[in-house]
Amino acid sequence: MQQIDTDRPGEDRTPRRDTIPRTMQAVMCHGPRDYRLAELPVPTPGPGEALIRVEAVGICASDLKCYHGAAKFWGDEHRPAWAETEVIPGHEFVGTVVQLDDEARRRWGVDVGDRVVSEQIVPCWNCRYCDRGQYWMCTVHDIYGFKRAAMGAMAEYLVLPGRALTHRVSSDVPAAHAAFAEPLSCALHAVERADIRFDDVVVVAGCGPIGLGMVSGAVAKFPKHVVALDMSDAKLDLARACGADITLNISRDDVVQVVRDLTDGYGADVYLEGTGHPSAVPQGLNLLRKLGTFVEYSVFGSDVTVDWSIISDDKELDVRGAHLGPHCWPAAIRMIESGRLPLDRICSHQLPLERFQEGLDLVADGTRSIKVSLLPGVGPGSPTA
Ligand SMILES: NC(=O)c1ccc[n+]([C@@H]2O[C@H](COP(=O)([O-])OP(=O)(O)OC[C@H]3O[C@@H](n4cnc5c(N)ncnc54)[C@H](O)[C@@H]3O)[C@@H](O)[C@H]2O)c1
Ligand SMILES: [Zn+2]
Ligand SMILES: [Zn+2]
Repeated sequence: MQQIDTDRPGEDRTPRRDTIPRTMQAVMCHGPRDYRLAELPVPTPGPGEALIRVEAVGICASDLKCYHGAAKFWGDEHRPAWAETEVIPGHEFVGTVVQLDDEARRRWGVDVGDRVVSEQIVPCWNCRYCDRGQYWMCTVHDIYGFKRAAMGAMAEYLVLPGRALTHRVSSDVPAAHAAFAEPLSCALHAVERADIRFDDVVVVAGCGPIGLGMVSGAVAKFPKHVVALDMSDAKLDLARACGADITLNISRDDVVQVVRDLTDGYGADVYLEGTGHPSAVPQGLNLLRKLGTFVEYSVFGSDVTVDWSIISDDKELDVRGAHLGPHCWPAAIRMIESGRLPLDRICSHQLPLERFQEGLDLVADGTRSIKVSLLPGVGPGSPTA
């Protein structure tokens, strides 16, 4: 650990440890539906690690599923629990580096005062997948905010473990926008999985944070059409602002007919599924043309039942799963910094940390918000709250 005490400003940007408070506010998960605000010691980074002051942390659909006790996180008769208790949640964050040693400085190319985001998965770098460069499928699967090995960002400070993947992001963008790098990298990975061609008609199902990112990424690939589907007109309006040239409300429009009309009766070339709703799966199988590509990004709360033979006998579809946002963070950051996304509208709510429960409830409600973020270090009376 580098000596952090310096009296020569300008020669070393490392602050004195005594400028960092001893304690901090943090949300602590004690189990499903049992998240509490606590005053905890500010963690001390070990060798090769960094301490960051958290500026913003987004609340994601998976945070909510974990909060509500979903089997994927807490286990059931088919699987063991993956999430742990006594963990600070939060994996979509941006913060400023306040303390690090030379090892961390060299590895990440960042210094005190730099603003950084960190990929949500903290790979073990030892398993078969990590070994082969497929780090997002790491067997250990430490993701910030679900495991004690990678405490999350619903806190004023967070330690970046030495195994983390960290990227620098401009200080010119609002904190909540910068933290959107996480969901956007996820959406861009789904888009990469689709191998979009210039002549494709691409349909994106769902216009939540993931779907809007998919629309933005698909538009950047410049296909013939990007069609966005949702049942909320407000979200469809936002999809248009992200570049979708056709938006359809599934509760009103004859989606199959519109897509047929666009494609000489053949059907869509690519379907990106980002709704989390089982109904969107048969919807996609029906919308696609023969030999089309179906990218599945959702995490479902219940089993999905479909006529599986559409994939084989009827259409010989290419069905591809996608998970996290590997190798897409630089592009996501570039997209955010470019100002091309309507991030003021996508990042719809910013709340101080102590109002985390209200934030979770807003996400659960699903109709009043797109991306809800918590701003640790911002008091309850702040105008941004
Ligand atoms: N695979 C991963 O690594 C990963 C990472 C992050 C999120 N996700 C998953 O991605 C999914 C989307 O996340 P989100 O945060 O954008 O969710 P969200 O709930 O905010 O948005 C989903 C949207 O889909 C719409 N919708 C529901 N049924 C539909 C249908 N049949 N057709 C069209 N639209 C429909 C809803 O109105 C809503 O606007 C979730 O299931 C989430 O868990 C997966
Ligand atoms: Zn997330
Ligand atoms: Zn691994």
